[in-house]
Amino acid sequence: MQLKRTHHCGELNRAHVGQKVVLNGWVDSWRDHGGVIFIDIRDRYGKTQIVFSPENKTLYQQARKLRSEYVIAVAGEVRRRPEQAINPAILTGEVEVAATELEVLNTSKTTPFEIKDFVNVSEDLRLRYRYLDLRRPSLQKHLLLRHRAAQATRAYFNRQGFVEIETPFLTKSTPEGARDFLVPSRLHPGKFYALPQSPQTYKQILMVAGFDKYYQIVRCFRDEDLRRDRQPEFTQIDIEMTFVDEEDVLSMMEGFMQFLLAEVGGLEVKIPFPRLSYAEAMAKYGTDKPDTRFGYFLNNVTDVFLNSPFQVFQRIAGTKGYVGAVVFPEAVQFSRKQIEALNAYVRQLGGHGVAHVKYLHNQWEGGIAKFLSAENQRALESRLKLEEDALVLFVADEDVERAQGLLGALRLHLAEKLQLIDTSRIELLWIVDFPLLEYSEEEGRYVARHHPFTSPKLSDLALLDTAPEKARARAYDLIFNGNEIAGGSIRIHRKDLQEKVFQILRLGPQEAEQKFGFLLEAFEYGAPPHGGIAFGFDRLVMLLAGAESIRDVIAFPKTASGVGLMEGTPSEVDPKQLEELKIKPVRT
Ligand code: AMO
Repeated sequence: MQLKRTHHCGELNRAHVGQKVVLNGWVDSWRDHGGVIFIDIRDRYGKTQIVFSPENKTLYQQARKLRSEYVIAVAGEVRRRPEQAINPAILTGEVEVAATELEVLNTSKTTPFEIKDFVNVSEDLRLRYRYLDLRRPSLQKHLLLRHRAAQATRAYFNRQGFVEIETPFLTKSTPEGARDFLVPSRLHPGKFYALPQSPQTYKQILMVAGFDKYYQIVRCFRDEDLRRDRQPEFTQIDIEMTFVDEEDVLSMMEGFMQFLLAEVGGLEVKIPFPRLSYAEAMAKYGTDKPDTRFGYFLNNVTDVFLNSPFQVFQRIAGTKGYVGAVVFPEAVQFSRKQIEALNAYVRQLGGHGVAHVKYLHNQWEGGIAKFLSAENQRALESRLKLEEDALVLFVADEDVERAQGLLGALRLHLAEKLQLIDTSRIELLWIVDFPLLEYSEEEGRYVARHHPFTSPKLSDLALLDTAPEKARARAYDLIFNGNEIAGGSIRIHRKDLQEKVFQILRLGPQEAEQKFGFLLEAFEYGAPPHGGIAFGFDRLVMLLAGAESIRDVIAFPKTASGVGLMEGTPSEVDPKQLEELKIKPVRT
């Protein structure tokens, strides 16, 4: 390479006029304007306009052969653009480089899509050619933001005295409740490592080892169904602290969020963040990750229907079920078809559907209005504080949490549809007082809602014997505009309590020993009280970047079906490799 760059493509401005410079980069665009060739040369810093005039014939002929995405080196002189050609939208918009030399460092095939934002191409094609996709300004911006977020994270925790420690990837099953990815061992045929779903057990052991404050920006692996905000491998900011209670962890994390948002997003947030108990969140929003940027709260109207001519609701109300309502004045003009679409939405989520009524000029009309007694109507008016015209939507179900969940999903769905959410707002809040356990119908036993090392609330210990489902956990989640961005807990550090919880989870001594024996053993050697939390780093960056999907802030993500389209993963392997591992594929 003859022409080594003196400046990058986003650097030149008025102050450089008259200087001889060399730029290296990609041909972003190519235009022939009446015999003068204009090229935008691009690198990650920006674009600069290069001009090839016909006077220099050889150079001009060379420039004619350039195509998009060729890699070039150009030497030339910086000059001010004519007034009418100044582009204030870009950093280098006041100048251009009059080329004197050109070197083609590499050619490029015609790319399958244009390298610019807002191209109308399928995500699959973009992922297949991710290296081209990553040249687009928006993805470059996202990854640079991700970099800054990682640096800010390290800066904060370093300043607070935390130690960054790495933990193994080839490990044993960890307790987060998803399916493991397994790695077969060649040296020990028939045995497997599991990739960690999180460093949970290791970070607790680091507390036993006395490191006091640990953090790590770490990859976690979970074989679970993927969604907009889930990947099979994702990154956590993982944290653990010794001699702490909930207040210490929460306030340390509030400081972190405040620092990160200011540092990376230039945003100001007030601390402490509001806290909502799990029960309150379910009652008010029908979810444990409520979007609190808008109202439209759930109203429990079960009691109103205990005595009602509307038998469907009366039956549900009478059998410990739940009837709830949400009031949407903005949807009062909804057509039959629009309401039917809401019904279909709830059914597709597994509900019985939606019942509706229109409250118009102080009258109940349409939908289930005719099934409501005058007494029902008065009771609803006062419970729902009906004053203006509105569409009232009802969801009922035999299972209280399911009904709340459906109504909560409907609340969000409608708010999005009607654009009732103020997207300029940032709402951070803690959800606390989670139930410790939930009953798994599938497994016929209680399972840990967070993980089995989460401590019950000390005030609820007695409930473990009498009504385990009522015991609350010392667990907390951090919610950012309706997204769960972090979760953690104060841990059990005493063997007796841990054994008791295992017993309730019907995790026998042998199974516990086999799964977490090393941790339980460590706990016998002076385990201090400790607790921690983990942030979903990809989710956090997605929200900071205002990205649509977690895939937009990960350099090489998997598709929703877990496929790496660029490299072609998962793939078949050489039979010899399987032989070495003593693995025989089973044909199904
Ligand atoms: P948890 O399982 O709640 O806790 O995970 C912590 C955070 O990680 C993010 N997250 C994910 N992000 C992308 N793709 C996924 N598949 C995915 N799964 C989880 C979420 C979540 O809030 N060891 C505990 C933490 C602790 O107790 O300290 C844990 O892993 O944002």
